Amino acid sequence: MEKQKGLILVTGGAGYIGSHTVKELVKCGYKVIILDNLSAGNKRLIHPEAVFIEGDCGDSELTDRIFSKYKIDAVIHFAASIEVEESMHIPGKYIENNICSGKNLLESMKKNNCMLMIFSSSAAVYGIPKKIPVRESDDTKTINCYGFTKLAFEEMLRYYDLAYGIKSISLRYFNASGADPDGELGSMHKHPTHLIPIILQAALGERDKIKIFGTDYQTADGTCIRDFIHVTDLANAHIFALSYLMKNKISDVFNVGTGKGVSVREMIKASEEVLNTKINYEESERRSGDPPSLIANAEKIKKLGWSPKYSDLRTIIKTAYNWELKKEKERREKMG
Ligand code: UFG
Repeated sequence: MEKQKGLILVTGGAGYIGSHTVKELVKCGYKVIILDNLSAGNKRLIHPEAVFIEGDCGDSELTDRIFSKYKIDAVIHFAASIEVEESMHIPGKYIENNICSGKNLLESMKKNNCMLMIFSSSAAVYGIPKKIPVRESDDTKTINCYGFTKLAFEEMLRYYDLAYGIKSISLRYFNASGADPDGELGSMHKHPTHLIPIILQAALGERDKIKIFGTDYQTADGTCIRDFIHVTDLANAHIFALSYLMKNKISDVFNVGTGKGVSVREMIKASEEVLNTKINYEESERRSGDPPSLIANAEKIKKLGWSPKYSDLRTIIKTAYNWELKKEKERREKMG
């Protein structure tokens, strides 16, 4: 174990990507404080070596208290509302949680001289890209409120740098997927909407079939294409960005993806092969707000030295499946 490298506040550290990142931080020798209101996070994902504070980033009394009590070197800010579809029905919730609470956090950082942040941004900032793969310098024109809030916070960070010198790196994630290869962590969503968890439910017999949303896109097989990045690779991108930011103190924005596209049909086929089972599906209408193709140009972060190690489809599907099996087994044991 390396010696301690710094004290990091991880907001949303009891969530899916947050918990995987905390695990990697601890492995690397960082000390971690988790701030999570558990609205989407889950107690079982909290790392035993982290200090856990249950609360909200929008609670200024609490955030002021945390920053004055602990000498925090940097913040990794995951806490947010993340459902694209919901953001179109309840935009106020997204603006409140993703923009206003974030602003409160930045104010507490400023007051207490904490000057570094890694921010969980999203490929949703690009809307429907004109060119694929999409680069960081391409147009950002959001098509849903979730993407708008992520882009707005990136912009806020730019102004907090100009005004106060708070340096940040925004990581624009593509499709986070898979689960901890050691089987300790994974997604805890009760009602998943994402492609791979839905495929796994079909594989486990928890649903009859999966619906393919749209088969008439201008893609090779007519279904949407996404860039699936394993959550442990994503977690390591945060560690990488953090040490880069601590060393260089320059604000920047990076895509985090593999650069490879996989269609919905390809993902179903790969899952059938990896899990050796038939996945029933039906072709259905397009889902609103889906860009046809979203693939990262991730050269910018790769050039600095980060690269994905777990993002082959087999590892993504297998680790996610093992996690679902584990949860299923625990559920059965609980019921007796
Ligand atoms: N899909 C299906 N059937 C399903 C579920 C999904 O066909 O039952 C399709 C979707 O229509 C889409 C693809 O699978 O074409 C991927 O969908 P996901 O819901 O798994 O992921 P998204 O690409 O919609 O969402 C991701 C992130 C968001 C981010 C967004 C950017 O989860 O946080 O990319 O577009 F905002």
